[in-house]
Amino acid sequence: MIAIEHSSIEHFRDLIATRLGLYFEDAKLGALGEVLRRRVEARGGSAADYLERHVASRAELRAIAVELTVTETYFFRNVEQFHALEEICIPERVAARRGGDLALLSLGCASGEEPYSLAMSVRMRGVNARIEAFDVNPNMLEKAEAASYSSWALRETPSDRASRWFDADGRTFRLAADIKKAVAFEERNLSEARELGRAGAYDIVFCRNVLMYFVPEVARAVVARIARALAPGGYLFLGHAENLRALSHDFHLCHTHGTFYYQRLDQAPVEIAPGSYPLPIEPLTTTWVEAVERATERIRVLAETSHRPKTAPGSPRAPDEPTPARGVELGLALELMKDERFGDGIQTLDVLSNDAARDPDVLLLRAALMTQAGRIDAAERTCTELLAVDELNAGAHYLLALCCESRGDRAGAAEHDRVAAYLDPAFAMPRLHLGLLARRAGDGETARREMAQALLLLEREDASRLLLFGGGFGREALLAICRAELGSEGRA
Ligand SMILES: C[S@@+](CC[C@H](N)C(=O)[O-])C[C@H]1O[C@@H](n2cnc3c(N)ncnc32)[C@H](O)[C@@H]1O
Repeated sequence: MIAIEHSSIEHFRDLIATRLGLYFEDAKLGALGEVLRRRVEARGGSAADYLERHVASRAELRAIAVELTVTETYFFRNVEQFHALEEICIPERVAARRGGDLALLSLGCASGEEPYSLAMSVRMRGVNARIEAFDVNPNMLEKAEAASYSSWALRETPSDRASRWFDADGRTFRLAADIKKAVAFEERNLSEARELGRAGAYDIVFCRNVLMYFVPEVARAVVARIARALAPGGYLFLGHAENLRALSHDFHLCHTHGTFYYQRLDQAPVEIAPGSYPLPIEPLTTTWVEAVERATERIRVLAETSHRPKTAPGSPRAPDEPTPARGVELGLALELMKDERFGDGIQTLDVLSNDAARDPDVLLLRAALMTQAGRIDAAERTCTELLAVDELNAGAHYLLALCCESRGDRAGAAEHDRVAAYLDPAFAMPRLHLGLLARRAGDGETARREMAQALLLLEREDASRLLLFGGGFGREALLAICRAELGSEGRA
C-alpha cells in the first residue's frame, strides 16, 4: 500500500476546493487521504506525480466527484417547500410570464428525485415548464436518466402522485415517461466560472443541500450566478439547514408554509467585493468582537476619507465636525453596555458621522442599546433601518422579537425569533426566547424543545454576543433559566 504524506493530503484538499468547490474540514483529512491513495493507485505513479499531472484532467475530476460528493436525496424532500412552490411561486411566476412556459433549474440534482418532483409539481398546477438539472457526479446522472427508484426514494411522495406517475416493477418503481421527458439533465461543475444560463432566464431555482459542502468563495460565486440567471421576482430554494447570510444581498427572504425560501430582488444583482461598504458580506464564522473590530476599521477609513474633502489643508476644523478619532468608539459603546450605561453608550454612537452611523454593525449595537434602555420605538426604527440594508441580519430580527413582545405582539415576536434562528442556527437567544414565549402560551412541548436547543447553543455562544443580546444576563444565568424550564417538566 502506498504511503501518503500529510502535506500531499492538504495539497489534495486545496485542489478539490479549487476544482470542485468542496470543503473538507481537518477531521475529514483521514478519509480524504484514503481517497487520494485509491486514486494514486488507480493511476499508477507517486502521489506527487498524481497531484502534479493527473488531478486536473476532466476524467480524473469525474472520478474524484464520484468518490467525494454526498448524494443523499429523495422525492419531495422537505415537502413543505413543495407546498410553497405550488401555492405561491408557480402561480406567481405564471402571472409574471403572462401564461407563458416557466423555466426551472435544479442544481446538484443528484439521481433526479428533485427535478422529477418539480416536474410533478408543475404538472399538478397544469403548467408547462422547461426543467433543467445539473450535477457533477456522472454516476448520479446515469441513475437519473434510468429513472427507476426504490420505495425508500418515494418515502415522502404523496400517494396520489406515486400511483399516478410510478409503475411498480418488483421492488423498483419506474417513473412515467411524460415526467421523465420533462427534465433535461446535464453534467456540469458548478464551481466553474460559467454562467448558468441567459440572464433572467429562470423562474425558479432549487439548489438544495449543495452550498453547504462548498468553500465560502465558491458558494458566493454560485449564488451570484443564480441571481443573474433568475428573473427579477424569481424564486430560489435552499436546503432547510442552509441560508444566504454572508453569501448574497440580492434576495428577499420569504417565510410561508413553515419553510424559508428566497425571492430575487427587482434590481440587477450587484457584484460586491468582500468587505466593501455599505453592504459588507462578513465571513460566516465571526465573533461579535471581530465584527466590532472590522466595523471600527471601516468607520475609521470612512471618517478619514469623508473628513478629507471637507477641510482645506491647514484650515481649522469646525467644532461639530466628526473627527477621524471619533470613528473608533464602538469598543467603548460595548464597554458601556457591559456596565449597563445604555444611555451613555447611545451617546457615544451619536457622535459618529451619518455615513458611519449607517454601518450595519453600528446600527445593530445602537438597536441593542436602545432595546436595553427600553426605548422600544427607537430600537424598532433602528432595526428596520438595518434590515433595509441587510435583510438577513439575525441580530436585528432577534431585537425586533424583543420589541414585538414588549408591545404585546407575541406572534410577531415568535416570527422574528424563528427568522433569527433560521438565519443563524448557532444563535442561542432566539431559541431561548421562543422557549419562553411557548411556555407563556402553554405550549409545553415547543417550550422544552426550544429550551433544550438553547441550552446546547448557550454553552458555545460567543461571549460578546451574549453581552449584546443577553439582556444583562451572563452565560451561567441564561443556562440556569433553561435548566429551570427543562426541570419544570409538565408545568411548562
Ligand atoms: C446532497 S445532494 C443534494 C440533492 C438534492 N438537491 C436534494 O437536496 O435532495 C448534493 C449534490 O450536489 C452535487 N454537487 C456537489 N458538488 C458539485 C459541483 N461542484 N457541481 C455540481 N454538482 C455538485 C453532488 O454530486 C450531489 O449530487
